Amino acid sequence: MAADGPSGKRERVVLAYSGGLDTSVLVRWLMEEKDLDVVAVCADLGQPGDMEAIRQKALDTGAVASEVVDAKDMFAEEFLLPALWANALYQGSYPLATAMARPLIARLQVEAAKRHGAKYVAHGCTGKGNDQVRFEVATAALDPALSIIAPMREWMLTREEEIEYARERGIPVPVTVDSPYSIDENLWGRSCECGVLEDPWNEPPEDAYEWTTSPEDAPGKPTYVEIEFEGGIPVALDGARMGFLELVAALNRMGGENGVGRIDVIEDRLVGIKSREIYEAPAACILITAHKDLEQLTLTREALAGKRPLEQRVAEMAYEGLWFSPLNQAITEFNRSLERRVTGTVRVKLYKGLAVVAGRRSPNSLYDTGLATYDKADVFDHTASEGFIRLWGLPLKVWAQSEKRSGEGEVS
Ligand code: ARG
Repeated sequence: MAADGPSGKRERVVLAYSGGLDTSVLVRWLMEEKDLDVVAVCADLGQPGDMEAIRQKALDTGAVASEVVDAKDMFAEEFLLPALWANALYQGSYPLATAMARPLIARLQVEAAKRHGAKYVAHGCTGKGNDQVRFEVATAALDPALSIIAPMREWMLTREEEIEYARERGIPVPVTVDSPYSIDENLWGRSCECGVLEDPWNEPPEDAYEWTTSPEDAPGKPTYVEIEFEGGIPVALDGARMGFLELVAALNRMGGENGVGRIDVIEDRLVGIKSREIYEAPAACILITAHKDLEQLTLTREALAGKRPLEQRVAEMAYEGLWFSPLNQAITEFNRSLERRVTGTVRVKLYKGLAVVAGRRSPNSLYDTGLATYDKADVFDHTASEGFIRLWGLPLKVWAQSEKRSGEGEVS
């Protein structure tokens, strides 16, 4: 059988490997059906699981090489921070944890393909999701010469058949295969679909959530958290400086304890299907809320008016597999130049599912109490408004006069 150990002569394929049943079965399928040597690549993006055990499992299943890449810093710097600058929420609610992981994994595959001399890359996505699009478009953007294999689109098999296939070949079938949900998670959030959630009328049962306490059971007293930003980058929590990863982990915990970050949406997939997904993303929700508020304090009205519509585009491009597009990269550079000013501290109140800004301050604040106040300290020149209003309203006044004249000319 072709699957009997590496021949050293066969072509290689780099498989995006998670350690789960699907991608484990694919190691064997690529060997048996495509006669390829498999290089497994798994990205550590802060998801739970024993990474060394996952690496070994790919080898045990027949891969000729297996790599686990700690990509958490790369994820933070090149994906999550630009997404935070864009306050990126797809369709106004999903912080895009799964969506942004895909182009990163594709990049790791492309790099591994170079190192291993592979002409092929493969992923375990089905033919009706967004992830297939993200993997393949990202791969094409990074190395258009690579060929892509999507076995799950070619080889339609039921869950039972897949388990049977695995058992026949001695591939361990995890007990979690009985989970009623399909889960994807990384440090920016957890995505959960399928099972009873497929009926949009069903309220998600508590077992659909893992990172968050239900708001009903959350503490009856609010938790306040102070988040300090420097140039758009969150750098400290409650006065303690820490790296981005540590800060995100802390906010996931604090937010989760207060029931913050639960999202239940009907969302539009790129392939035309409406789907129902449950997300948990406490840190992403808190950070975006705080960051957006600090922008309101530190950026000019014109900058905000220019920036907000671009934020939508970033969320869409992240969702739609266009992360590596020139437009997305250009918007990130645009944001980077504005973010220089986004320095300061935001105080957020976490309480029974809500994350609400309670206060904000900044050395770059454009808020001027003398201008804003209604009390004696007022320094605003009220008389200047008179001339301003005359000019501001001038076009409308001219238009109204013209309307009136033409109305007078009409014969009734
Ligand atoms: N709907 C989300 C997206 O397209 C998440 C997809 C993965 N979800 C899952 N539960 N396996 O980005």
